[in-house]
Amino acid sequence: MSADIFEKIKANRGPLGIHAKESHGYFTFPKLEGEIGPHMNFRGTEKLNWSLNNYLGLANHPEVRKADADAAAIYGFGSPMGARMMSGNSNYHEQLENELSAFVDKEDTILCNFGYQAIVSAIDCLVDRHDVIVYDAESHACLIDGVRLHMGKRFVFKHNDVEDCEKQLQRATKLASETGGAILVITEGVFGMRGDQGKLKEIVALKEKYNFRLFVDDAHGIGVLGATGAGAGQEQGCQEGIDIYFGTFAKSFSLIGGFISSDEQVVEYLRYNMRSQIFAKAMPIALVLGLLKRLELMRNHPELKNKLWENTHALQSGLKAAGFEIGPTDSCVTPVYLSGSIPEATNLIFDLRENYNVFCSMVVYPVVPKGMIILRLIPTAAHTLADVKYTIECFSKIVNKLKSGEYMSDKIAAI
Ligand SMILES: Cc1ncc(COP(=O)(O)O)c(C=O)c1O
Repeated sequence: MSADIFEKIKANRGPLGIHAKESHGYFTFPKLEGEIGPHMNFRGTEKLNWSLNNYLGLANHPEVRKADADAAAIYGFGSPMGARMMSGNSNYHEQLENELSAFVDKEDTILCNFGYQAIVSAIDCLVDRHDVIVYDAESHACLIDGVRLHMGKRFVFKHNDVEDCEKQLQRATKLASETGGAILVITEGVFGMRGDQGKLKEIVALKEKYNFRLFVDDAHGIGVLGATGAGAGQEQGCQEGIDIYFGTFAKSFSLIGGFISSDEQVVEYLRYNMRSQIFAKAMPIALVLGLLKRLELMRNHPELKNKLWENTHALQSGLKAAGFEIGPTDSCVTPVYLSGSIPEATNLIFDLRENYNVFCSMVVYPVVPKGMIILRLIPTAAHTLADVKYTIECFSKIVNKLKSGEYMSDKIAAI
């Protein structure tokens, strides 16, 4: 007799799901309430919040809130009622695509309803079974899922290791010359967990020796890195060498959705072949209008990005001066590396939230190796230097407690 799917699921709830009962609503699926920003309510008390990718503070910018409300009042959230290709196109969608192309300095752009889905679907669309993918080992789940859909060969290179990337390119070149296929290299502008930028400039330089196209997921770079906010490629002076550029609207734009920019013919190919967009409803016009306003603010108010970086530098240099290990981050993502068990991590987070009123995300095994705890802080333009100072003081106190064994337990914190 075959197994029953429900019985299998009940027996194996997954590496995070096994903690669901004890952690749901607190360590996992917490509810942050109130206006988006550095001060939000968690279980009825105001917390200083470092867990949102609202980098430029646009979620609650008065002009953004007005543009969103006005657009929703005129169009509702239902319009347009079809896929772009069939009945859901509009001048606003095309205007936003044109403005984004100019912003990231590419010929053309396609809007996508969700960033994750855009990446999975674009990779699926760009390669066929003769092609070879070369990708970074610590790529985001959506890139991995896109690679999983690929019917041909793939070679993974050690995280941000350009030498290993070249080695895999040599293997890929040999294979592609046998299959008659092409090579797609995939990496990220900023790796969201550790905050290190992908070595885009060095990878682009490999084009002198190898024939490949470069796909960059710049979810954490768009709006935040580079002189005009065009992202990690601009920051590293190699935007031109990025052949397919992905940006999300879920972080610095403080909305939802994403886009892919590239050469005109490549984007046209995506428009007519990318399954997740052809066979799915268009992005609502209300969101498109909200995005146009956000892009206008990004272009015309560099002080937002400057404030973000002032806070980021204060946070990162302050943590380092206080003796914290923050790893190789060269973006706004600020991970604090600590050592301890999962129960210790939960007791520490509980103390931090309940007694110091600081809320940040915690990352433990299996996302990182056993024994490692990462407290991940995301500074935004809406934070103040006083928020930074207070947080570093609290972190110093809790880390002393961690080191003296105060959080030790064999059970995760009772919530
Ligand atoms: C590096 C990276 N790529 C892609 C995504 C997916 O983007 P979205 O949230 O817009 O679906 C994320 C979101 O967490 C991300 O961090």
